[in-house]
Amino acid sequence: MPIPSKVETLRWRDARLELLDQRQLPERIEYVTCANAGQVAQAIRAMVVRGAPAIGCAAAYGIALEGLRFAGQERPAFDAGLERAFQLLAQSRPTAVNLYWALERMRRIWRQSGKRPPEAIAAALLAEAQQIFAEDLQINLAIGAHGATLVAHGARILTHCNAGALATAGHGTALGVIRSARAQGKEVSVVATETRPFLQGARLTAWEMTQEGIPVTLITDNAAGYLMGRGEVDMVVVGADRVAANGDVANKIGTYTLAVLAARHRIPFYVACPLSTIDRSVAQGEAIPIEERPAEEVLGYGECRWAPQGVVARNPAFDVTPADLITGLITEKGVIAPPDRRKIEALFGCILLERPG
Ligand code: MRU
Repeated sequence: MPIPSKVETLRWRDARLELLDQRQLPERIEYVTCANAGQVAQAIRAMVVRGAPAIGCAAAYGIALEGLRFAGQERPAFDAGLERAFQLLAQSRPTAVNLYWALERMRRIWRQSGKRPPEAIAAALLAEAQQIFAEDLQINLAIGAHGATLVAHGARILTHCNAGALATAGHGTALGVIRSARAQGKEVSVVATETRPFLQGARLTAWEMTQEGIPVTLITDNAAGYLMGRGEVDMVVVGADRVAANGDVANKIGTYTLAVLAARHRIPFYVACPLSTIDRSVAQGEAIPIEERPAEEVLGYGECRWAPQGVVARNPAFDVTPADLITGLITEKGVIAPPDRRKIEALFGCILLERPG
């Protein structure tokens, strides 16, 4: 079994949630401490923590924090406080469905609590958040194991954005496949796209890979077609923020462009994600809500601004890749290739959807 990455993206310390501040990487390793759901929602919105599974884990802990904060109150005040927390967190970022999936799991614990006192419910909520976090690491190890079977010795793997340990409870989804392939002794190397405008590839993926001595080459987003055309990419593996019932995938802006390029060059294009990223209530990709982030992120970065004053900018944070451009979906239950509605249904058919109450 591969060794989980040492990066601690989220950690629970002294009844507080500590989040590795991903805005500061790779220059500084700093943690932001959250004591309530409002602070967690703000950290998600501001991209202190990002990546679909990590957002889900953070939101679950946000509810746990709020449970503990109101544990000394009577039930009506406790319930009202929790409901506010659910609303706040649900409004933090719209595209990654893991956020709503995790909130639904937390809500189920609350709903099932009957007339129990607030302290007992708060303890159950914290246990559930910790369970969601622990499960995510195990799920990523399973995704890695399934995905690694698709990776050839010496493969040059292009990935976009960051779907690594920083985007999850550990190991990562797309980067988990790479880590697991390495752990099997396959000498793979990574091509990381910069990922404008937030630079998750340049700052986060390149950092994760160099930390572990995994060979990585950073390219600008628009160099991908050039490298593919020269035969320098053997496969593409990316993560996902939400997968529709028909297999369409919403992921970081630019993913669709890469999928079109990969199809043109007959390069396998894989999406690695947990089942919690699949939203069967959404029939197809065009119904997935796409976050538009502030234009400032496109106009410059940090203190540096390069666009003229007054220019109009658009900043869609995600795009949708149609299922027919995807070679396979790598999940903890196995690989479905190519993904379609029937195979996705079958994937869920073989697992227990509701945890016994
Ligand atoms: O805006 P971000 O950084 O949250 O976007 C992250 C991605 O698009 C990832 O590819 C996705 O969440 C999968 S993370 C395992």
